[in-house]
Amino acid sequence: MVRSSARVALSALLLPFVSALPVVERQASSGHTSLIKQPDGPTEFQISYGPRPFYIINNMTDGPLKQKLQSCENGPWSVTGWSIGHRGGGTLQFPEESVQSEEAGARMGAGILECDVAFTNDLKLVCRHSLCDLHTTTDILLRPDLAKKCTVPFTPANATASADALCCTSDITLAEFGSLCSKMDGFNASAKTPQDYQTGIPSFRTQLYDTCATPLSLDGYIDLVNSFPGYRNFTPELKTPPSQVPMPFKGVYTQEQYARDMINAFIKKGIDPARVWPQSFNPPDVFQWLKEFPVFGAQAVYLDESGDYNNISAAAALLPSLKAQGVNIISPPINYLLAYGDAENKTIVPSVYATSAKAAGLDIIAWSFDRSGPLTRVEATDDYYYNTINQAVSYDGQLYEILNILGNEIGIVGLFSDWSATVGYFANCFGYTGPVGGSYYQRSMASSSSKAASSTSKPTASSAASKTTAAPVTQISDGQVQAPKTSKPVSQISDGQPQAPKSTSA
Ligand SMILES: *[C@@H]1O[C@H](CO)[C@@H](O)[C@H](O)[C@H]1NC(C)=O
Ligand SMILES: *[C@@H]1O[C@H](CO)[C@@H](O)[C@H](O)[C@H]1NC(C)=O
Ligand SMILES: *[C@@H]1O[C@H](CO)[C@@H](O)[C@H](O)[C@H]1NC(C)=O
Ligand SMILES: *[C@@H]1O[C@H](CO)[C@@H](O)[C@H](O)[C@H]1NC(C)=O
Ligand SMILES: *[C@@H]1O[C@H](CO)[C@@H](O)[C@H](O)[C@H]1NC(C)=O
Repeated sequence: MVRSSARVALSALLLPFVSALPVVERQASSGHTSLIKQPDGPTEFQISYGPRPFYIINNMTDGPLKQKLQSCENGPWSVTGWSIGHRGGGTLQFPEESVQSEEAGARMGAGILECDVAFTNDLKLVCRHSLCDLHTTTDILLRPDLAKKCTVPFTPANATASADALCCTSDITLAEFGSLCSKMDGFNASAKTPQDYQTGIPSFRTQLYDTCATPLSLDGYIDLVNSFPGYRNFTPELKTPPSQVPMPFKGVYTQEQYARDMINAFIKKGIDPARVWPQSFNPPDVFQWLKEFPVFGAQAVYLDESGDYNNISAAAALLPSLKAQGVNIISPPINYLLAYGDAENKTIVPSVYATSAKAAGLDIIAWSFDRSGPLTRVEATDDYYYNTINQAVSYDGQLYEILNILGNEIGIVGLFSDWSATVGYFANCFGYTGPVGGSYYQRSMASSSSKAASSTSKPTASSAASKTTAAPVTQISDGQVQAPKTSKPVSQISDGQPQAPKSTSA
């Protein structure tokens, strides 16, 4: 396959750099974890999956897939980029976009960890799923000094109207944002008080860890993820501000500058672009990165929800033109990739969208697994992620049947999930290691230089990006866990304030 030959070529190219890295020893330990020893980092780190993968396997119908998954029960496990921590990766149980969710995703072996990138009033970047979700994901309404700054302050419910509020990262400064508690996402539409408004969390999640989780600045996230053993990768998502926050913000801050600032945060910290998978739903962001930061842009993840506005077949028809414009990775929700395989709606097969994406030469990263409640309920609730196939699913053992279609039949290269263990177990069992950092850019260079050997406009990395090309393009994708080249201090916001790292090794 194209992917494996590209991988061989890339590793040959990188040999001189890779040999300079410290030796990382991985060995299976007894039990369900493997040990990752890193001479220049923490001495060891064990991936831990907990009981959920085993619970799902036990509930599977007997057959070869169940046997295969059972055969992996004692590991060994490796960090894998096929498992992408959605909003951190512990989001099923931990407040999203927080230090604690990232730590949970890292512990469950996610090779790529997400930060959705929003901006504050003082134009600093922070991790938050939506620019305007602070009223449901933080305790801001319980902080009168900050609550009064909300775009729409809290309004209690009455006989005819629901409770209302809209609090945006752009309403407050970075320092103020850092003083908030991250909470489980939810709200009580009947609330008469801000205190009552804090509830309304979906019942399949939990408040067990809803104990003032630590919010993250983008810089804090980069340092945190970089500090995890296992050489994790980053997937920052640029948001499109809602209509209540018109761009350019304050008349000066444009979407283009915001897109630039997000990439520059990684460049400033010397992060190898091969470790960064920038995402956006907004096509101009992706095209801007392709143009201004080609090394980052080549592996940008184009998030596609256009099927929600029109229909999924129409979305599929647009895929070849995206590829032609330089997009290499398409990222739809899982429901776009799955379809009924028979007239009775009892079986599931890859959808036309899935086959069209493959035919167009696009790699697929899908979202988001373990974001729904038990599969017993998804038909009754018309759950979004299963709405194309919900008549065919009714018990949790089918979660791995669905991963089997996504991974083994369609061949996706990565999957966002709210509980990284479920996807990590499957990926390890089948040897899936995730998208290959650096390979998309290598391929685009190779194809454009062969297309126009005599052309003078050979693509070059932007000056900023080319600074980082001397860094080793290390991949987690060949199944090897490699130590970070530099270990930077963790800058978690431990006192509630986002902080720059105290010292950086230049
Ligand atoms: C899976 O769980 C469902 C309940 O959700 C149960 O009805 C079914 O028997 C279980 N299947 C197996 C194989 O354990
Ligand atoms: C209910 O609240 C809405 C919105 O805050 C307001 O416009 C409306 O007048 C209120 N109705 C009553 C009966 O108080
Ligand atoms: C939602 O708010 C209403 C009105 O304040 C309150 O009676 C109710 O208990 C709240 N529900 C929850 C689950 O907190
Ligand atoms: C999907 O959308 C396209 C474009 O608007 C339209 O031509 C087509 O009929 C639609 N298909 C379905 C099944 O609704
Ligand atoms: C199967 O699903 C399709 C699409 O949701 C629906 O139109 C059709 O009626 C379903 N067939 C049966 C037998 O339920």
